[in-house]
Amino acid sequence: MPRYPSYPRYPSYPRDTSDQFIYSGDDVLSMLDTLLAEEGAARWDEFHADRTRSIPFFTDSPDESLAEWLEAGLITPGRVLELGCGHGRNAAYLADLGCDVDAVDFSARAIERARERPRPASGSVTYQCCSIFDAQLTEGSYDLVYDSGCLHHIAPHRRLDYVELVTRALRPGGQYGLVCFRPEGGSGYTDQQVYERGSLGGGLGYTEEQLRVLWDAAPFTVRVLRQMQARDEQSRRFGADFLWVLLADRDGADQYSAGPDSAGPES
Ligand SMILES: C[S@@+](CC[C@H](N)C(=O)[O-])C[C@H]1O[C@@H](n2cnc3c(N)ncnc32)[C@H](O)[C@@H]1O
Repeated sequence: MPRYPSYPRYPSYPRDTSDQFIYSGDDVLSMLDTLLAEEGAARWDEFHADRTRSIPFFTDSPDESLAEWLEAGLITPGRVLELGCGHGRNAAYLADLGCDVDAVDFSARAIERARERPRPASGSVTYQCCSIFDAQLTEGSYDLVYDSGCLHHIAPHRRLDYVELVTRALRPGGQYGLVCFRPEGGSGYTDQQVYERGSLGGGLGYTEEQLRVLWDAAPFTVRVLRQMQARDEQSRRFGADFLWVLLADRDGADQYSAGPDSAGPES
């Protein structure tokens, strides 16, 4: 069973949506999407267009946390889904260590840059340029779902879809790794203010409690939740202290995979 009640997504009767009438829970979500249309791929294309900008994560180094977890054996190379991969620094790092990575980002500019990277030493990377919610993926097949900096750009009304996407993508016993804004790193907007202002204000900060509500509840158990270590530009690892790092285990039971009642990108 999914952990959240799912909204009916595709009513079984044909209907005309041009009247903007709210027929279903899914119509509410779609209506909220339109209020935040400025937060889409076009904005991120602009962001990624100038590669010379001084943006901390425009480095080629992988996250210090990801490298630490691999070096400590907390995660092992396998099949990886990366959400919001940007210019591919973490995907390339994982592939060089033997992982087979499906890396998704809706910015064509970011994916273009990622595809310019040399072929990985041992594993593989397959890039998809689309919203994470439209990604082609084999449910229940990934050992690791990794996200460095995408969740805090997901609109509040899509947050539960995001948790469900991660849940469905992971194999039983798989893991989820996250880097996201701490409160001081984000805009400080409440969820309500996001819709009042039509913007996430550059990304939403999360409190520890909010992260635990999302990831320390069945089927997940949080294994690591700490402040990211700041690293300077010369370091071979990326780190900034306004970010959290989180590693969660998805439990080993198979009871959360897609069922007839669950909603998600492929339902
Ligand atoms: C802060 S950047 C991080 C990029 C990369 N993970 C890194 O750390 O270098 C966030 C990325 O998420 C992507 N993104 C945001 N929302 C997305 C969505 N709904 N679907 C796909 N990509 C998304 C943006 O295009 C952007 O490249």
